[in-house]
Amino acid sequence: MNEGAIKVKIDQLTEELKRHSYLYYVLATPVISDRDFDAKLKELETLENEHPQFRHNDSPTKEVGSDITKDFETVKHDFPMLSLGNTYSETELLEFDSRIRKDLGDDFEYTCELKIDGLAIGIIYENGKLLRAVTRGDGVQGDDVTVNVKTMRAVPHVLKGDFPERFEIRGEIFMHRKAFDRLNAEREEIGLAPFANPRNCASGTIKMQESAEVAKRPLDLLLYQLIADERVYSEHYENLVKAKSWGLPVSENMKKCKTFEEVMTYIQIWETKRRELSFDIDGVVIKVNALSQQKDLASTAKSPRWAIAYKFETERAETKLVSIDYQVGRTGAVTPVANLEPVQLLGTTVKRASLHNQDVMQELDVRIGDSVYVEKGGEIIPKIVGVNLTRRSAEAEATEFISNCPVCHTELERKEGE
Ligand code: IVH
Repeated sequence: MNEGAIKVKIDQLTEELKRHSYLYYVLATPVISDRDFDAKLKELETLENEHPQFRHNDSPTKEVGSDITKDFETVKHDFPMLSLGNTYSETELLEFDSRIRKDLGDDFEYTCELKIDGLAIGIIYENGKLLRAVTRGDGVQGDDVTVNVKTMRAVPHVLKGDFPERFEIRGEIFMHRKAFDRLNAEREEIGLAPFANPRNCASGTIKMQESAEVAKRPLDLLLYQLIADERVYSEHYENLVKAKSWGLPVSENMKKCKTFEEVMTYIQIWETKRRELSFDIDGVVIKVNALSQQKDLASTAKSPRWAIAYKFETERAETKLVSIDYQVGRTGAVTPVANLEPVQLLGTTVKRASLHNQDVMQELDVRIGDSVYVEKGGEIIPKIVGVNLTRRSAEAEATEFISNCPVCHTELERKEGE
């Protein structure tokens, strides 16, 4: 590629990633898979490293994807709320381990944890009382969603035991798969579009204006980082054990590891065992345990150097889109469903998959005859997550959402905001 073409590619990827980041964090309706997002981000990072003159100051490789909306008061975090570097490869994880060992020697411990697939929240407690709950936002400031977080059963308003006078604790808000399925079934009954997955549902819920509605949604919380006086609270794992004794919901499957081999064993175990969990995880997080050592390793503007996420591959298959049916729910809501050439996915044969709704269908620009990606990201109904454009044939037929009901033929109506 010549310089001009590289600049165009960097501009394009930057724009594209920003749009996907907005769809994911603000609107909670992503149209590409996390895997594709991460791959594009990596492609951009490689290009930027080779051609730093074309990097945008606000490149998504350097900034935390923002979830800030206009609907809540924006508040500044006491400490930046960073994201995590991630990898899908054992070799890169080994490189991370070698970098840590180069700086710290071998005298340190990791804590391995599940990477819960939800949205990040920071909660401040003062004198044992919940003071404020703020979303990650852009890492520097976030949305104050205290009223909504207070409706969650998992969140104690008052603590017990020997807690520090003021501290922040961070974690992930998420939804259990069963609760999500129930909620989606109820939505369909009353003619509302179902959510694509528990993560989108949790993140859409926490940004709702009506906290009475939030209270009806079965959100849960698991906490993974305590920020308090480091002279007393000096080790990550031990801090979370203490936080549990104050009545806070803390991740249960943490494990301390000393060697890279132990870390790999933890990963391998959870790669399989994750199917036994009642909620979705998208990987494992590996953190240096001692806060003094975390401090020595420091952070970039986007993520700490003392931690990394090892992400699991989503189970995905590629197959041909044969046709699209439109299903009419009992209340009259119309959902597009793809008929596929049968394909094996997680031990079952998939012939049909959800195309979500009209907006997602248009965004995907899916055409009859296309080679499409199907995923079963922990959900029961598989869904179309993308199109393999390299295999699109000239005969592929553009699709258009129907304008009349397939059953009674009346003209379809689209209500504002639905
Ligand atoms: S640690 C500076 N631990 O994953 C440390 N994050 O992709 C930052 N997440 O923004 C976070 N489970 O929302 C941490 N056990 C865990 C996690 C976890 C899920 C989320 C979190 C973070 C994102 C990064």
